[in-house]
Amino acid sequence: MSLYDEIIKLALERNFFFPSSEIYSDAPAGFYEYGPLAVSMKNKYIEAWRRELIRRDEMVEIDGSQIMPKRVFVASGHLESFTDPITKCTVCNAIFRADKLLEEVLKLSVPERLDTKEMDRIISEHNVVCPNCKGKLDKVSKFNMMFKVNVGASGDECYLRPETCQSIFVDFLRIYKTMRKKLPFAIAQYGKSFRNEISPRQSLIRLREFYQAEIEVFFNPKKANDFQKAREYENYVLKLKPLDEDKIIAASCKESVETGLISSMLVAYYLALIQHFYQVVGIDMERFRLRQLSDEEKAFYAKEAWDVEVLTGIGWIELVACNNRTDYDLSGHSRVSGQDLSVYDDGEKIIPHIFELSMGVDRSLFCILEHSYMKESERTVLKLPPTLAPVQVAIFPLVTKDNLDKKAREVYEALRLDFDTVYDESGSIGRRYRRQDEIGTPFCVTVDYQTMEDETVTVRERDTMGQKRVPIKDLKGYLTEKLRR
Ligand code: ATP
Ligand code: GLY
Repeated sequence: MSLYDEIIKLALERNFFFPSSEIYSDAPAGFYEYGPLAVSMKNKYIEAWRRELIRRDEMVEIDGSQIMPKRVFVASGHLESFTDPITKCTVCNAIFRADKLLEEVLKLSVPERLDTKEMDRIISEHNVVCPNCKGKLDKVSKFNMMFKVNVGASGDECYLRPETCQSIFVDFLRIYKTMRKKLPFAIAQYGKSFRNEISPRQSLIRLREFYQAEIEVFFNPKKANDFQKAREYENYVLKLKPLDEDKIIAASCKESVETGLISSMLVAYYLALIQHFYQVVGIDMERFRLRQLSDEEKAFYAKEAWDVEVLTGIGWIELVACNNRTDYDLSGHSRVSGQDLSVYDDGEKIIPHIFELSMGVDRSLFCILEHSYMKESERTVLKLPPTLAPVQVAIFPLVTKDNLDKKAREVYEALRLDFDTVYDESGSIGRRYRRQDEIGTPFCVTVDYQTMEDETVTVRERDTMGQKRVPIKDLKGYLTEKLRR
């Protein structure tokens, strides 16, 4: 079984995530539900995002609407340009994403923004046919990936947001003024985005409804190098995969800017923060890179782009798009809304530029699960950072007699408001440990006969499997200390 299949098996068996509306056979692909363990893990992941990025950088967070009017997406360019190239089989009518099909069949890298005529040419030159029925493929066309919704009885044309950040741009001036901010500063948002993907697949990797956690940094481009906060990170070593290198290089923020690889210290600083974040949440840094994108690969609004990518059993996966969007967004919204979105920065009237860290949460959680997944001789264990573990403490009575179960329940009651705690008395103690190892529970507390004599319990650590006796009265403090990041 491939590593990917093992993670999916674990996810289904332990209810991390599973297909949406699964009892209906006509449920569309690309929609997934999070079960209790993944909800707990996701909440902790978002808390880590808030701690390591938002609070660290003194950003502010908003929570905007998921449905926005058509003119927002006229201004953003999504109505015109947020398209995927598609081709249809003239025989069986199956629809494919043209760039991905060519990549799979011809093992070529085909940028999604390649001209449709050029894709037609490649299809005909290599005689690419429908992978299902070998039928002839129709000409490549563009398919807009936004979901249209009609709002109210008059059916006003609106769209489900394809990225969370548009409300950050639309709300920018209000936040800037009311929060009394000065440039540079960042607004963040976590929430759902929606894309009508042609071929949703690989569970959480390509969904039609997914979570993004986005950060939009507003700055004056003339001052992007003179950025106080970046000083501390000058020597921070980034793991970069530049366009003209076929390997990952280690370069400090300062060096990357001096050699012109990264446009400014502001950009380098935020790349450092995001790299640090992934280290904290348990991504193996040997399988991490910041990949520079070529002009063909960049989104239509980006001048400079680095993707956070993580290596998995199914290849490198993009987790965060780090885009220098320049003044593209605020200029567009100013033009279409008629509202002046410029601000004064030290007496100079400017439209702020934007650098973004656009993170996919579902993909990140999948990759963290995969990088934490270990098979040891006798057990499968998720070595998640304890701060992300869905269950933090499991309480077991050694046996369910002689009042050990009653005592264990008391310990459970004393802990469950402070930690994500479970009580388990079924099966052998070894099996109970294995069940918790498999979902990454960092601490298992066992009540045994000695507990009844001296009010101590054993605390077993997931990674070392070492055990320590701790007085019940000290247990909360002990676990709090251990779970401190
Ligand atoms: P891809 O090339 O994989 O389609 P993208 O370049 O279109 O991704 P962006 O538009 O840059 O993705 O979106 C920012 C982030 O949002 C991505 O890095 C990814 O983590 C997440 N994301 C985008 N599309 C999806 C999706 N369909 N399902 C899950 N996450 C997604
Ligand atoms: N906000 C960038 C993206 O979702 O692609």
